[in-house]
Amino acid sequence: MSSATETENAVEAFKTLWTMTSRAPRMHAMSNLVLSTSIGELPLEEVQLAIGDREWSILHTGALIGAQAEVDFLRGENQAKRPYGIALWPSALALAHDLASRDVRGKRILELGAGTGLPGIVAASLGAHVVQTDRQKVVLHVCKMNGERNRIDPAHLEQHLADWTTWEEAARFDLIVGSDILYAEALHASLHAILDQNLAPGGTVVIADPFRPGSLGFFEKLQADGFDVALDKWTVGIAPPPRAVGVYAITRPQDRVRD
Ligand SMILES: C[S@@+](CC[C@H](N)C(=O)[O-])C[C@H]1O[C@@H](n2cnc3c(N)ncnc32)[C@H](O)[C@@H]1O
Repeated sequence: MSSATETENAVEAFKTLWTMTSRAPRMHAMSNLVLSTSIGELPLEEVQLAIGDREWSILHTGALIGAQAEVDFLRGENQAKRPYGIALWPSALALAHDLASRDVRGKRILELGAGTGLPGIVAASLGAHVVQTDRQKVVLHVCKMNGERNRIDPAHLEQHLADWTTWEEAARFDLIVGSDILYAEALHASLHAILDQNLAPGGTVVIADPFRPGSLGFFEKLQADGFDVALDKWTVGIAPPPRAVGVYAITRPQDRVRD
């Protein structure tokens, strides 16, 4: 990846986000909440996480932090089918930590494929105005529940149903963020078009991705189209074994010159 932050990239930042030893018992705590959906009842679990200077309570349908848990889930071996957007994915944790370290006060943020909504919720608590989007109603419902249970001012956090393949949002955003949204290569062109259309001049895209094999091609295409791409490498969880997540910060060099 080439960019002004090349030196930083050469020294990859390995950051342990989350020590599960002290949090493991709560990680699997059931919340007594059951979501009734058209595909059946979905029991929700709660995880409590320390991010930035406060603790967060996030409802989800199951944690998929380790690679094997993800394989089992995708093969449907674990339990009945659940919408994958409201599982707890490691990239959301990495993105939430990244956003907590940025100055997002007053910034307009678009969150793509919001899932349980943790990154957008953290950013909204820091004074950003966040629009969380997903193609699934049930996902946005859980996002909203999670925003409310973390006492986020609804004036800072809204949810819009929107599919990348039929995208109509015209507004420009200072930050466009997403975690684990690159798993389907057939959707990369739609996502690329959204970045072109909705990123404000001088804006930044931040995407967290667990090094899925097809994702590198997405970032290479952005570079070929004139974007700079910088990578931070994070690890999430401690066992068995911690999951590596890349957090990619994407900017347009011509925007920086104009600034
Ligand atoms: C792997 S999940 C990641 C969820 C969340 N960002 C996280 O990291 O926990 C991918 C998310 O992208 C959403 N998604 C997939 N295809 C989409 C599309 N075409 N338009 C909008 N959202 C989509 C899914 O509904 C899901 O919430």
